[in-house]
Amino acid sequence: MSTRSVWGSKAGFLLAAIGSAVGLGNIWRFGYMAYENGGGAFLVPYAVALILAGIPLMILEYALGHKEKAAPPLAFARISRKWETMGWWMPTIAFFGINLFYAVVIGWCINYFFFSFSQVWGSDTGTFFTQEFLHASKGPFQLEGIQWPIFAGTLLTWIVCWFICFRDVNHGIEKASMIFMPLLFVLTLVLVAWSFRLPGAWEAIKEHYLIPRWGKINPLAPGGGKVWVAAFGQIFFTLSLGFGIMITYASYLPRKTSIVGNALITSILNCLYSFITGFAVFGTIGFMAAQKGVPFSKAVAGGPGLAFVVYPEAINQLPIGKTIFGMLFFLVLIVAGLSSSISLIEAFCSSIMDKFGWARKRVVTVVCILGAMGSTIFTTRAGVHILDIVDHFVNNYGLVTGGIIECLLVGWVLKAHIARKHINQVGSPPLPKIWNVLIRFLTPILLLLVLGMALYTEFSARYGDYSTLALLVFGLGWLLAALLISLVLMRYAWPKEKLQREHKPDEDPLMV
Ligand code: PFF
Repeated sequence: MSTRSVWGSKAGFLLAAIGSAVGLGNIWRFGYMAYENGGGAFLVPYAVALILAGIPLMILEYALGHKEKAAPPLAFARISRKWETMGWWMPTIAFFGINLFYAVVIGWCINYFFFSFSQVWGSDTGTFFTQEFLHASKGPFQLEGIQWPIFAGTLLTWIVCWFICFRDVNHGIEKASMIFMPLLFVLTLVLVAWSFRLPGAWEAIKEHYLIPRWGKINPLAPGGGKVWVAAFGQIFFTLSLGFGIMITYASYLPRKTSIVGNALITSILNCLYSFITGFAVFGTIGFMAAQKGVPFSKAVAGGPGLAFVVYPEAINQLPIGKTIFGMLFFLVLIVAGLSSSISLIEAFCSSIMDKFGWARKRVVTVVCILGAMGSTIFTTRAGVHILDIVDHFVNNYGLVTGGIIECLLVGWVLKAHIARKHINQVGSPPLPKIWNVLIRFLTPILLLLVLGMALYTEFSARYGDYSTLALLVFGLGWLLAALLISLVLMRYAWPKEKLQREHKPDEDPLMV
């Protein structure tokens, strides 16, 4: 008899899944990407990527987790033992390749939340961030000691995550998501409304975010292909696909469930959140540019530059409410980050619990302690460089590779029609047959193209100004280290009954 936890409610599951998807990427990646890639016109490749890769894969991950009632390693092993290594690789890379530094970035946000009280960053926010806060060293090998305020923020993040994941999903992650997500939506709406009304905001939103620059998205024009690759990459990252997170979350769903409906709701709400947050980001940058009399193109930034340099600078320009605005912004980042971080931890822990049968409390505690120790490297003076390299490699190669593997496994080894039949048996609306074609052919081919483009760019221009050795150690090395860990973990034998499905075949004629 199964003892696997079950979500307490459909809303609880949806909020947790949306919580995983909505993260730092929605706030600091989407808007900037749209700006760089055609403004409003970017919505076209973005929507195409959502329809052709995002939603079909979300359905696939939900279906796989739900059908096998297992995290990726066991789900993969039940289909074919040969594929188990890849089932390990996905949550392992999610944990070691993303969460170790994701926790540190949340740690930065915690520091900045407190800095907002009196705008500690002063007037030169860029110098403050790199020199006074990060104390960034010259390169990724110059660790030069831990930065204790960053370490403290990171440790706090791990403790909160541990506290949430320690309990069963319906008490821990579900309850946390029930608090986090409504809070995040309300705070974000306040931020958007506030930013909207700043002088110069609406003009910037219109001109740089909404007005389409169609020429940019022509895939045949020079640089046009890059826009499409960016759109596919962003869809993957933003929906938390390719790392088995959604497989794990769906494994806790009750038997009767609408896989298609859940996938549509999660994907669409996540993208809508990105789009709406873009108004706050562009409004705030537009306001700052207008106040300082600098062109928008000089003021705009994405990633950490947006959150820790441009935003503090914009806050400096506010006539009133500097403290509240700053706290609000960093709180949004913290909450969005935490709800993603717990999903990364859960996928890895759930994989271990499946295989070794150890109690959740023990696994989560050990994993969080190891994770906090691993994060320490990112709290050193070289942290920001290492983070940049790991992030680049894991996101450009790890996610998409994970997606291709899933398509091959479900589309060809399990067979797409079997997965589709399962989906249509356990809930509605029904999934049209075209999904089989997408999963078997179109989605993996598109993902291969994205991977090919990423490799081409990698070899035609060196990433950042890092040495080859640094890129090999922290980029490729990180991906291979995860593979090594996966190979070790897969070598342990499964307890015999585990590889058999938990429900009787007559319950579901497809479970052969
Ligand atoms: N989706 C999250 C974001 O947009 O920030 C980040 C993320 C979480 C990516 C979990 C991948 C993942 F597996």
